[in-house]
Amino acid sequence: MSDSISSLSKENRKFHPSKEFVKNANIKSVAAYKKIKNKADKNPTLFWAQVAKDLHWQIPFKKTLEWKFPVVKWFSDGKINAAENTLDVHLNTNRRNKAALIWEGEPGDVRTLTYLQLALEVNKLANGLKSLGVKKGDVVGIYLGMVPEAVIAMLACARIGATHNVVFGGFSGEALRDRLNDSRAKVLLTQDGAFRRGSPSSLKGAVNKVLNHVQTLKTVVVLKRTGQETPMQANRDIWWHDLVNEQSNECKAEALESEHPLFILYTSGSTGKPKGILHTTGGYLVQTKYTMKEVFDLKENDIYFCTADIGWVTGHSYVTYGPLMNGSTVFLYEGAPTHPGPDRFWSMVAKHRISIFYTAPTAIRSFMRSGDEFPNKHDLSSLRLLGSVGEPINPEAWMWYYNVIGKKRCPIVDTWWQTETGSIMIAPIPGALFLKPGTATLPLPGILADVVNKDGKPCKANEGGLLVVKHPWPSMLRTIFGDHERYAHTYFGEFKKQKYYFTGDGARKDKDGYIWIMGRVDDVVNISGHRLGTAEVESALVSNPLVAEAAVVARPDEIKGSALVAFVTLKAHAKENIQDFEEMKEILKKWVAKEIGPIAKPDEIRFTDALPKTRSGKIMRRLLREMVTTGKTSGDTSTLEDFSVLEKLRANDEE
Ligand code: PRX
Repeated sequence: MSDSISSLSKENRKFHPSKEFVKNANIKSVAAYKKIKNKADKNPTLFWAQVAKDLHWQIPFKKTLEWKFPVVKWFSDGKINAAENTLDVHLNTNRRNKAALIWEGEPGDVRTLTYLQLALEVNKLANGLKSLGVKKGDVVGIYLGMVPEAVIAMLACARIGATHNVVFGGFSGEALRDRLNDSRAKVLLTQDGAFRRGSPSSLKGAVNKVLNHVQTLKTVVVLKRTGQETPMQANRDIWWHDLVNEQSNECKAEALESEHPLFILYTSGSTGKPKGILHTTGGYLVQTKYTMKEVFDLKENDIYFCTADIGWVTGHSYVTYGPLMNGSTVFLYEGAPTHPGPDRFWSMVAKHRISIFYTAPTAIRSFMRSGDEFPNKHDLSSLRLLGSVGEPINPEAWMWYYNVIGKKRCPIVDTWWQTETGSIMIAPIPGALFLKPGTATLPLPGILADVVNKDGKPCKANEGGLLVVKHPWPSMLRTIFGDHERYAHTYFGEFKKQKYYFTGDGARKDKDGYIWIMGRVDDVVNISGHRLGTAEVESALVSNPLVAEAAVVARPDEIKGSALVAFVTLKAHAKENIQDFEEMKEILKKWVAKEIGPIAKPDEIRFTDALPKTRSGKIMRRLLREMVTTGKTSGDTSTLEDFSVLEKLRANDEE
């Protein structure tokens, strides 16, 4: 049996940036890019030391990297503050009165905060937190919707050296309780409710009961957004406005050690309890600032919209820290992408003249599904760059994004990274590199990512293998909070000898060195001695004009080792036209066989109206795998968005 992962993708289309894009780009040619990259890759430590000079250090660092496998420190003798690097650094420049945040609520209300206004709000909340006894090193939980106060909250913590733990506002009370307990949070910042799909949905009220089960929690600060009735517990709960109104708008930024913990963010592993990924200050800021500037080819007058919620790492690095350190104007949106109609994002792009739009493949596929007429109703000519993150983007979705949203003018930066990596690791530099639909292209300068076999040897071109990072990078996680053993084992157990970080992803490098992510290795299946990435089979299914979305998992098969089961959601208009669903299944099987070869042909196809997804939109293949293998699901479902989906899939199973 072969150890390599077979790749059957035949995608070969290439897209060069337009002359106009190149003319204004920060890095304008392959030659210029290679010069930077070759030098950086030869000595990543020196490269990052130079990049780090672009930040404001209260005490400059002398040491750059200390690497005692698997413990890493960057710039450890320097002192730095994240709030100062996002706010104060702009206040004596022309950016002082520039919009830092433009926020649109779901009902259509708009608020703009300049850099100065944002800084004053952050200072007031920072003083408010101090008045509650929050000190450097304390953990503050943040359970908010997408309101400007979410950004204010993170920066207020950073200003006084409190470590923030943002919990996605859509998580249940139990998920919140576990995360607050695990991180030992002292204060929680939350809100009465948020507008979602046309009506106020409760936050504080919905989780009120569990808050008494967090021993360490002393105070709950509640922001009034919707005005809905909200239970307040005496001696514990306090209104946000009552806390900040009387506070001074001046607050000194603490001088923090570079390795001071900036935040903990929980991410669900494929098994077991969520992991509290710990990021520290200096290294995280350095790489986040650099990647924001170069990958998004930032310009002073960009209006940048990243659709991620602050509850995800993308909302930390590319809604808050990255863009604000670079003095950008960040657009924030509160509500559902489909409210009041499927064109909400496009109407906001037109209204606010958004120039950079960064979203996830799952969103792109759902836009595709609702039809071209929605984006086509709006003027999208302000867009100049598009981004994608979170999953492999299948070439059909990429092409749709490129043609229908970008009108063939806008490069797409497909950015590969993880909660653990803190910031972008593999992505195109858009003015320099040509793109191919479905690949995040090359590791960024100073990032030694590679595809290796299980002995740690580099794979040949187009041979599938495991994605590793061979040299520490500044924004890498430092530990799993409270479980350093698990950190060492999960990320460094696989390639101990070589001291490589293992990403958990399967990938291949093509002959241009471009890296194609084939999904998590737990989504890799073995069919007749060939290990296949299920993402490729899914991509083939989705390229059929009748298919909206697909998830492919394996169940044990006596003959082939594993058999493939595909869960398929059809496009709305397709269902009405299909007479015979059994015949449709056969058509789709043949389609996959034709697209990528008979070996990848699904053994079974199941139609479903929806797939089980995490709140961040990732399909929970683990649950589907369990269902097709054991007939039931037992694992952790705390991150599942819609439980009824599972019930329906089970019901179909029993029919
Ligand atoms: O499998 C990869 C996939 O998402 C994983 C990281 O998930 P998370 O920590 O939730 O962070 C998501 C936002 C950074 C990766 O191991 N992934 C992320 N971006 C891409 C991707 N897969 C393919 N292409 C990408 N651009």
